[in-house]
This record gives sequence, C-alpha cells and structure tokens, in this order.
Amino acid sequence: MYYGADYYPEHWPEERWDDDARMMQAAGFNVVRMAEFAWTRMEPREREFNFAWLDRAIELLARYGISSVLGTPTAAPPAWIMAAHPDATLIREDRQPVTYGSRRNYCPNNAAYRAHSARIVRAMAEHYAGNPDVIGWQIDNEFGGRCYCPTCQAAFQRWLQERYGSLGALNAAWGTEFWSHIYTAWEQIPLPWSTTGVHNPGLALNYRRFMSDSYVGYQREQIDILHEVCPGVPITHNLMGFRYPNLDYFDLTEDLDWVSWDNYPRIRGVPDAANRALAHDTMRGLKNKPFWVMEEQGGPTGNATVALAPRPGEIPYWAWEAVAHGADGIVYFRWRTARFGAEEYWHGILDHHGEPGRRYEEVKAMGRIVQRLGDKLKDSAVRAQTAMLLSYDSRFAFQNQPHNPHLDYPNVFAELYRALWKLNAGVDIVSPAADLSAYKVVVAPMLYIVDEALANKLRDYVSQGGALVLTCRTGVMDVDNMVVDQQLPGLLGELCGVVVDEYDSLEDGRTVPLQWAEDLEDVAGGATAWADVLSLREAEALAYYAGEYYAGVPAVTRNRVGKGQVIYAGTVPDAAVAQSLMARLAVEAGVTSPLEAEPGLEVVERIAEKARYLFILNGGSDAISVDVGSGGQELVQDETVSGVIHIPALGVRIIEQPLGNSAID
Ligand code: GLA
Ligand code: ZN
Repeated sequence: MYYGADYYPEHWPEERWDDDARMMQAAGFNVVRMAEFAWTRMEPREREFNFAWLDRAIELLARYGISSVLGTPTAAPPAWIMAAHPDATLIREDRQPVTYGSRRNYCPNNAAYRAHSARIVRAMAEHYAGNPDVIGWQIDNEFGGRCYCPTCQAAFQRWLQERYGSLGALNAAWGTEFWSHIYTAWEQIPLPWSTTGVHNPGLALNYRRFMSDSYVGYQREQIDILHEVCPGVPITHNLMGFRYPNLDYFDLTEDLDWVSWDNYPRIRGVPDAANRALAHDTMRGLKNKPFWVMEEQGGPTGNATVALAPRPGEIPYWAWEAVAHGADGIVYFRWRTARFGAEEYWHGILDHHGEPGRRYEEVKAMGRIVQRLGDKLKDSAVRAQTAMLLSYDSRFAFQNQPHNPHLDYPNVFAELYRALWKLNAGVDIVSPAADLSAYKVVVAPMLYIVDEALANKLRDYVSQGGALVLTCRTGVMDVDNMVVDQQLPGLLGELCGVVVDEYDSLEDGRTVPLQWAEDLEDVAGGATAWADVLSLREAEALAYYAGEYYAGVPAVTRNRVGKGQVIYAGTVPDAAVAQSLMARLAVEAGVTSPLEAEPGLEVVERIAEKARYLFILNGGSDAISVDVGSGGQELVQDETVSGVIHIPALGVRIIEQPLGNSAID
C-alpha cells in the first residue's frame, strides 16, 4: 500500500525539508505527490528550466524511504504564458474572459497553451526518465470547467462535422426546423452561450460531450509524451468523485493507468457515509481496478471561510473506508498548512506552525497498521453482487433540462445507491458499456438516453436471470436528445411491460403516498419529484399511488422476463420506499451480506489471491457488536478474533481469512 501526503517543498525553507521527511517517515509514509503547481519554479522563463530544487527534494525524501509521484503543473498557468497568449484564457458562458489569477483559467483547446504544456511535460519527463524514485505521474489537477471561446467554437464545429458528416444529418438529428435554426454552414453553429432562453437540446448535449472530450484530448497529449519518454511509469489524474458533473469520467480515465481522486468529507454539511462510499465505488468502477485517494482530507477545509474540524478519529476512519472500497494508496492533502496563497485555511496534517499535533498523531497511528498490511491488499478486488449504471449522457442531458428541482440525477442516483449500500453486499458503479452478467441486481436510475445497443443489453441481462431496477424518465430520448416517437419508456417499454399514459412533475416538492399492492398496506414513505401514470401491459403492480388524481394507479411495477425481472418505478421512491424495495429484491435475487450486521455497520469484502479481507466499519458514535463466526486474524488490533466482537465508534476491523481451494461463490 502507498501512504503519504501532498507535499509542496517550494512553499518552505529548504532547511525545513529534512524535519518534514523525518516526521513523514515516522508516520509510516512511503510516498508524496509534488510539483503539481510549480510551473514557474520549474520554468521561470520560456525554455529556462530549473529542476535542481525538485531533484534535491526527491533525493532527500528517498533517503527516508519515500517515493514521489510528480504532478504536471498545467492546472495553474504562469503569468508569463497567459500574458503572452491572451486568447488562451478561459471564456465563460456569458462570453467574458476570466481574469488571470486562481487556476483552471486556461482554454483546453488553445494551441499555444497546448504547446506550452507539451514543452513543460516533455522537459519534466526527460529530466526524470529512469529516476527510480519517481514512481508515477499525475496529469494536471482536477480537470473541469467549460470554455466558450472562439477556438472552442471552431473545434466544436469540427467535432460535429466528424460526428454527423453532413449538415443535413445534424439538422435532422437536432430538429433545427424548430424556430428556424436550420444551419446552412458549419460556421453558423454557436456554442450554447447565454441567450434569451433554452438552447436546442441536441446542441446543448453535444456541447457537453464535446467539452468533456476536449479535456480527454488535452490530457492525452500529456499522456502520450509521458508514455513515450518514461515508458512503464504509471499515470493518473486526480478526479473529484461521483459528484463532479462536467466530465465523462469513464472517457477521461480510459487513457490513464490508474484512477485517483480527492476526498473531502467535511467541506460543508454533515459528512455522509453513503455518499463517501458512492464516490469510492464510482472511482473504483471507472477502471474496475484499485484506485488511490490522492487528496484525503487531512485537516479543516477552508479558503475564505473555515469548515468544522475533522472530529477525533475521523481522518483515519475516512482513509480506512477508502481502503475498504478499493483504495491502494492514501495521500493526505496536504502535509503542512500553507502560510500564504488562496488556500491558507485549507489545513493539512500539520498546522501553519509545523509542530506535530492531534491530526499528525492520528495519521501516524494509522501508518503503523498500514505498514503491517504491507502488500496484502495489492491487486485485490472488492466483491460486489450489485451494480448501478452511471450514464453521463443522461446526466448531461438533465443538466440542460432538469425538469424540476427535486429530480436531480446525482441525488436520485445517490439515494438509490444508499438503499443498495445498506445491504452490505457491494455495489459496483458501471458504465452503459459494461458487462452486467455477474450482478444479481442492477439499478439504472433515470436512464433518459437509450439506444438500441443498450436496450438489447438490458433485455439480455434480464432474460438471463438478472434483476433490473429502472425509474421514471427512462428511455425518453434518443442519442441526440430528441424525444422518442413511442410511448414511454420508449425502447424499454416492452421489457418493462408498462406504458406511461401521462406524467406529473411534482415541482412543488410534494410527496404522493403509496400502497403496497399485495396487501394494500400503506407504504412508509412515498413517491417524490415525478409521477408516471402507468398502465400495465405484461407487468404486475407492486405499489399503487394513494393520492392525487391518479390514486389507485400503479406506481411501481414488476415484469418477469425470461429468468429475470425488471422493476419499473414510475417515480423517485423516497428513502423508505427505496430501502424496502431493495430489501425485498435482495431476498428474491439472492443478494447476501458476508455478515449479519446491525444497521450502522458497514461490511465490505476485498478478495485477494490467497485471502479475503473482511472490512467491518462503524461510522457511528456508539460501539456495535457483531458476530464474526469463525473469524480470523484481525489486522488493525493484530489479534485472532472469532464470535462476537465489539467495534468502537469510528472503529475499523479487518479480518483476514485465507482462501482454500474452494471458490468464492
Ligand atoms: C483540490 C485540489 C487541491 C487543493 C484542494 C484544497 O481538491 O486538487 O489542489 O486545492 O482541493 O482546496
Ligand atoms: Zn476555449
């Protein structure tokens, strides 16, 4: 396992570096990430490179057994580059350029900026090629944002030309007949700049796809250089978890060797274990491989304002949670809190003064256990019996037409995830291209954009025995964001065995009560955000609406197809309904938790070649007991356990169970 911190030696006097390295070693660190915002330090003037300071830092850390991941510095362009290329500045939706300052202020399609990026990346790569202490690269930092500049407009037009071939095809696919938008030259096609109303949905969706592709392309230029000059050294980018809305993370990570992401549970609001788990599972799902947390919260977050400090025990708890969900590397942000710059209040493990404190001691205590774990978890896989299908296309389309404030794709997704997560049976987050056959249950919320290939895949999955859960707003659009010319749920209508006669957008936030069909008992909870008024074809009703003008009409249905079944919820079931639905489905589909655990305990299995590792996590504030049966070697306390054990508040236990020849079912 890798364990360490994000380190900015350039922010501190060189005389301090040795103390830092010594304290890091004492905390069990074996890795740091460095250099990711140090462009001007490394290239103060064009083609004048200075890596001596970084060489010294890498070397010193290596003497303490600490390897380096180097970041390419392109997220924060030097003033001298942006002054020379004003057109490299990111332009906002209102066509105003951002002011120089902060970061992420460049256009990803600007040729001059790309040339500067390529130069610094090549120079770094050539300088560090073959250096055994540089064990990985991170490209840029947290890609994101959208640019609306003339370069991007021209690039968008070329991108569309490739996608559609002819203007005729584009006009037909977008329905530009509407309001006389028919384009007669590619140059006429605008970006969705702020205008008098809503843009054509085909244009709006494709712009989002194009912008996501722009970062994928920009990233690829850097990857190609690094792979060419430093073959075999793995490359990552630090992503922003499930919640980041503007990039197709499946596309962005395709070219990367491994995924990493930045986990800040206490930025605002109350930390939520299900949301953290969802983010980890999403990051693991991108490449279906172990990932790193490249920035794990190490102190109170804040820039202009300061958030609540992580409570005692939370920092290591969040880190263990990441490990349970598939992380092989935990890198805290940041080693020591900066005394200057925009993030003076984004605290690291050490405070401004640099003396070890409570947070350092917690990280250090975890470091000892990480050392005990060594490489045991390497290449191990989190076992997941269920999956959720994440469609960035559908998500992008809702950004343009959100329907109503209570029908938010990521929130609906997260609440259904929570219901699955509570089963303690593992959830993989997969793309529409994924193979679903291994999962007992697949939930695909608000699958708004569906093509034939996806419809066929879902049909096969169900007929071969899968249990599929769909919601309202499924099968509404074709891939160009044009409404299908069938009754809903469109291409999935036959599979679902229902027809949506009409629908009701509950934009005022009301909840419509439900009744279970089997006993006409009231369901605890109800239907929110949206209500499809359904007619049954082959399907049976599982629940009816018990209010509004559609009282007595089916709200949730089941259709048995082949060996499997598909549940269609013509609404957004609230948490209570979602949980009882999933619990019932779990029983039918044979989804089981590795341990009978009380609510409040999270159980995750990681399966390695020779052993399985059972993580038991208690994120609550009271101790909980659990029967671990024959148990095994417990790696946190370093003792043998069996029978009933007690997990303290914010406690984690990892039970190692050797795998015999018997295959895991
Ligand atoms: C992000 C960035 C870091 C830093 C932290 C704290 O996740 O990747 O560079 O800015 O947030 O704000
Ligand atoms: Zn641009």
